[in-house]
Amino acid sequence: MSEPASSPHDDTPDGVERIERRWASVAVVVVLVFVVVATLAGVHQWSLPQARVETADPRTLHLTGEFIESNLGSALEADGSVTVRAVGQQYSFTPPCIVVPAGIPVTFRATSADVVHGFLIEQTNVNLMLVPGYISVFTARFDAPGERHMPCHEFCGTGHEGMWGHIKIVDKAAFTRMAADQRRLTCVE
Ligand code: CUA
Repeated sequence: MSEPASSPHDDTPDGVERIERRWASVAVVVVLVFVVVATLAGVHQWSLPQARVETADPRTLHLTGEFIESNLGSALEADGSVTVRAVGQQYSFTPPCIVVPAGIPVTFRATSADVVHGFLIEQTNVNLMLVPGYISVFTARFDAPGERHMPCHEFCGTGHEGMWGHIKIVDKAAFTRMAADQRRLTCVE
């Protein structure tokens, strides 16, 4: 009698081993494909320049440029959007209470005056690092009026746990009224 042809149902020890080897090779090939794809994607991203990097000298933030104290807070722009400028420093945010409108795109521009701080607004996707020397930018939209905590979420020294800010989301019309008589808005009492 001649050797039976190999088939998926070959349950002799040799046949089982052959099938096991075949599936093991498939698994190895799949892993290799993932490694190659991850490597190529990593090299590709690494070789691209960053789209845009803005810098701000932490030593002169309070003296010149867009982060001087009188320019911090929320500003209604000519196109109807809102820009919020803020600075983090050990151990507070300036302004400590930020007021934003609901339903309008709000662009945060923030930096640090000393060490790395975190800038996170609870229950939103706003989550930035404030790195001295660089300006962090993020645009968000808040659905409805309310209040949010804004904890520093990067360990920045002994006072880190006490570094909290607040966000007050107000109705769009209320914000526009407030912006009519003030160039920069905050909710600092
Ligand atoms: Cu600032 Cu932690």
